[in-house]
Amino acid sequence: MAGPELIRDTRAWQAYCREARRRGGRVALVPTMGFLHQGHLSLMREARRLADAAPPAAGPRLALASIFVNPAQFGPREDLARYPRDLDGDLAKCASAGIDAVLAPEPADVYRPDHQSWVEVGSVAEGLCGASRPGHFRGVATVVLKLLHLSLPDVALFGEKDWQQLQVVRTMVRDLDLDVEIRGMPIVREPDGLALSSRNAYLSPEERSRALALSRALFGARDRAARGERDAGALRAEARRVLDAAGLRVDYVEIVHPETLRPVERAEPGSRMLVAAFAGATRLIDNLALP
Ligand code: PAF
Repeated sequence: MAGPELIRDTRAWQAYCREARRRGGRVALVPTMGFLHQGHLSLMREARRLADAAPPAAGPRLALASIFVNPAQFGPREDLARYPRDLDGDLAKCASAGIDAVLAPEPADVYRPDHQSWVEVGSVAEGLCGASRPGHFRGVATVVLKLLHLSLPDVALFGEKDWQQLQVVRTMVRDLDLDVEIRGMPIVREPDGLALSSRNAYLSPEERSRALALSRALFGARDRAARGERDAGALRAEARRVLDAAGLRVDYVEIVHPETLRPVERAEPGSRMLVAAFAGATRLIDNLALP
């Protein structure tokens, strides 16, 4: 199987993407930090499908991915240095998902030594992970804006596991009038419910089994809501009890409006429950729409 074209230089990537756009092509982009799993691959297969949906007479139909562990979205005490990396393995996975080209730049290419421009998104970026990880969404929004400018995609795909990130990106795209469709893709789970995440690689077998409490807490809340429980406080309290009982250190349990991410007192159809908790030193997040 022919692998994707690997481009390390952001200017070369920009020229490659600009040429595709000039020729009337359709471009679908999947931004990632690598160490790819089936969740990423579901985004890539969808990117392939969306690019191929362009009329045959159009220019090149490109499904693209970026692999870049973005230093700007890690706090000083977070896991930037040990974040798992496997470029060769990732390229093989990209090939299997039909990706045409991969941008994998060096940090010094993305952030030149005197880099001084940042994207700050407002209230949607402030609570939840934004509260626990100051500066995180500033780093995400900045790198996503750069990747969108460099790649000029018609559509960019993001996983719903990072629900807040998806809303931050959507808000930025709306507020800055970017000409790109943002598509969220459903969370991919292991058969036992654990949401796929590159950070699952950090978990010991014992931590992994405790981490199942995140999805258990969410599915439990969903079932209670389906049986008529609307009180967000009661749903949150029960979810927190499940996380505590599993020995996880809870960061937050919230029920929010799915787009504004403002906490709600009554769970309405579509309200989103989001959880973040530590299994050992590993911080995990998960979320689910309530019925
Ligand atoms: O979700 C991720 O992998 C990253 O936050 C992203 C969107 C690629 C930006 O670095």
